[in-house]
Amino acid sequence: MTNHSIDINRLNAFAEKMVQEKKTAVGFPCNQNIKLADFYHWYAVSGLADVAMNNVGDPRKPSLFALNTHEFENEVIDFFAPHYGFSPAEAWGIVTNGGTDGNNHGIYFGVHALGSQSDIKPVLYVSEEAHYSIMRLCDLQGLEMRQIPTNIKGEMEVSAFEVALDPSRPALIVIAVGTTFKGAIDNQDAIAEVLAKKRPVAIYRHVDAALFGGYLPFTEHADLVSHSVRNFDSIAISGHKFFGFDEPLGLFLTTKEVLEKQNPFRVSYLNASVPTITCSRSALAPLKFWWQIHKTGVEGYRRQAELILKNALYLKEQLDEINYPAWKNDISNTVYFQRPGEWVMKKWSLAPYEDERLGGKLAHDIVMRHEGMHTIDHFVDDLLLDRNGGSEAEPGT
Ligand SMILES: Cc1ncc(COP(=O)(O)O)c(C=O)c1O
Repeated sequence: MTNHSIDINRLNAFAEKMVQEKKTAVGFPCNQNIKLADFYHWYAVSGLADVAMNNVGDPRKPSLFALNTHEFENEVIDFFAPHYGFSPAEAWGIVTNGGTDGNNHGIYFGVHALGSQSDIKPVLYVSEEAHYSIMRLCDLQGLEMRQIPTNIKGEMEVSAFEVALDPSRPALIVIAVGTTFKGAIDNQDAIAEVLAKKRPVAIYRHVDAALFGGYLPFTEHADLVSHSVRNFDSIAISGHKFFGFDEPLGLFLTTKEVLEKQNPFRVSYLNASVPTITCSRSALAPLKFWWQIHKTGVEGYRRQAELILKNALYLKEQLDEINYPAWKNDISNTVYFQRPGEWVMKKWSLAPYEDERLGGKLAHDIVMRHEGMHTIDHFVDDLLLDRNGGSEAEPGT
């Protein structure tokens, strides 16, 4: 067999660039400390790299398509369910293709769960600083959305939620546990109080915990993402954020009670009713998650959670020390600050944002596992250099 068409030199140059680039990628919530080389080695030598597997269908039901990893997907869900406060008997979930997929299921399942209680069309409530996927998905699912203003920390303004809440219509509330830019956590107790006071005809709570949902279960603040404590109906978490995977994947968890309220859509060629939105689903993602759980374990996740929170605090302290305008919410690994010059933005892959309440132009650093104290020191040095009017010469100039 020949490999004439594959330009390995080109691919190697590309790989080298990516491996180099990841060291300073601190503006997006991707954990670059990936440890999957042993998995891929096993995957190749096991023969599975030459098998087309597919997790189509409900992983809890027997499938006519035998080439799947449902048994591993179920074990991943069984491992995480108690960490998100679901009892093993009541939980249902899937490994998704990312946070947006989990939110899509949360909103879709929510509409149908509400529909089982009332014929009136629901209203979706979400904060203005929640992830844009919620707005996109509302548009996609043809839902009326009410965006609630936020306080300066980025949390939903609960008094504004109270004013916006229409009790004559079912309420689908999307709660942000870790907003994208400021890492703000909506106050679930205060939201619950408003709901108890105004008593909408039906209520469904979905939690978008894309990044924070990865580490919170392994901290003393686990109750913020606990179904049994907070009474939410579903939760979505990204796998490629805290957990550290090489491609998008995630978790969606809800209860069997919610699942039963979904449209059954019986699919004859699969001999089953398929509750998932997408037909084909990755079989590789659950296998990687299963591998990681067994390699890392609860203690490993705990250490990683502790480390990113400690390092985020370190970054905030370093910025305070040089009087650089910066903010960090509690229990958050996201530090946001006055936006530096373009060369710093580019070098460190920083994301821009605007908030007039904090002086206008901002950027943030999401401290993931690949950003240790040493990298933070370099980053702070660059901010200092930039503030003093300096800049780093572009490579090659
Ligand atoms: C709060 C929040 N929700 C949802 C998402 C979307 O997640 P994904 O990129 O995994 O689809 C993000 C992505 O950054 C996010 O920050």
